[in-house]
Amino acid sequence: MSNPKPLPFTAETVSRIAAEYPTPFYLYDEKGIRESARRLNAAFAWCPGFREYFAVKATPNPYILELLKEEGLGADCSSKPELTLSAKVGFSGEDIMFTSNNTLASEYQAARELGAIINLDDISHIEYLRETAGLPELVCFRYNPGSAREGNVIIGKPEEAKYGFTEPQLFEGYRKLRQYGVSRYGLHTMVASNELNGDFFVETARMVFDLAIRIHQDIGIRMEFVNLGGGIGIPYRPGQQPVDLRAVGESVHRLYEQMIVPAGLAPMKVLMENGRMITGPHGFLVTQVVHHKNIYRDYVGVDACMANLMRPGMYGAYHHISVLGKEDAPHDRVVDVVGSLCENNDKFAIHRPLPAVERGDLLVIHDAGAHGHAMGFQYNGKLRCAELLLQENGDVRMIRRAETADDYFATLDFSRLKPAH
Ligand SMILES: Cc1ncc(COP(=O)(O)O)c(C=O)c1O
Repeated sequence: MSNPKPLPFTAETVSRIAAEYPTPFYLYDEKGIRESARRLNAAFAWCPGFREYFAVKATPNPYILELLKEEGLGADCSSKPELTLSAKVGFSGEDIMFTSNNTLASEYQAARELGAIINLDDISHIEYLRETAGLPELVCFRYNPGSAREGNVIIGKPEEAKYGFTEPQLFEGYRKLRQYGVSRYGLHTMVASNELNGDFFVETARMVFDLAIRIHQDIGIRMEFVNLGGGIGIPYRPGQQPVDLRAVGESVHRLYEQMIVPAGLAPMKVLMENGRMITGPHGFLVTQVVHHKNIYRDYVGVDACMANLMRPGMYGAYHHISVLGKEDAPHDRVVDVVGSLCENNDKFAIHRPLPAVERGDLLVIHDAGAHGHAMGFQYNGKLRCAELLLQENGDVRMIRRAETADDYFATLDFSRLKPAH
């Protein structure tokens, strides 16, 4: 049987790295990350000013962000630390888009200080921003289409999602911005997450193009850009196909010619803010088999746990697992692959056919490059692991060290404890 999900590196390479760096660790593939960024840029090359603002929350590592900056991407931030991180990497001004919700005044102030594009999540934030940080010349609104769009499992139904403005609020909001002297406008939406159907994004473009036209007709303002959000899915499961970006780009181009150009709104920039499709397939969690336990089910215990990758426990998400060096061996054992957290959803796989494994075998958990390490936590005193970058030249670089017990205790002051008896 041919391997349905081959790794971008050899078993020898991973074994060599694991001999130098203790497991578990994340391993990112620079070449793959750059190629994903280039594919998206190429698909929208027809659009003057197209820009992908990488969703920093997906992979908030400065060295990954640095690669993406070199590929011409901007940074999409949702918190003050993400703004700081992006600024440290050298993103500045409108290289940064600030898409937050339930936002604090201090966060708006930080975004304003950097000159970031501010994307408001609610109509009441117009006054809030004005009073706390001042209105910039360019303001964007996030649109929530409610029952007009379906959404999907991860993001949920738009009408049940806490994000964005309703359509009447958009019209009222842009009028208000104009009264306040705002002179540049953007329109944003994000209606899907991990969506593999490319048509979904074409429909999103149609929806925001139509809104931009109606807002122009009604209020007389021109959108400088529309942002289609992130959410392009990746094939987590063997046999799934990636989104055909070129086809999506071509279809959006056709709509642009049919809708935006005749309405006299060109040039209008199209922006996106994907995370997963850029880094997701190019990050791997490498972990080692520690135990094998056979009770009512067969369990393979590894040295990573849900604190390193919570997507399976949180969403029941599928992540493919390769047993290094045994990719082509018969997958004739059905096991749960588990971590050591005292939570029974600490499972990387449930009822998964794998080859027979032994203590010390390396397991590579695929497609962990986005919303993986970033969602890590320290419950049960578990520590976040290191992140390594396999560079295009074949060298491996540690881009984040593993946490130590000192990191875990860093926020505690033991000196005020009563003396022990
Ligand atoms: C506002 C916003 N933009 C972009 C993204 C990136 O989504 P994805 O990584 O699925 O592309 C997210 C994900 O949570 C988001 O909340």
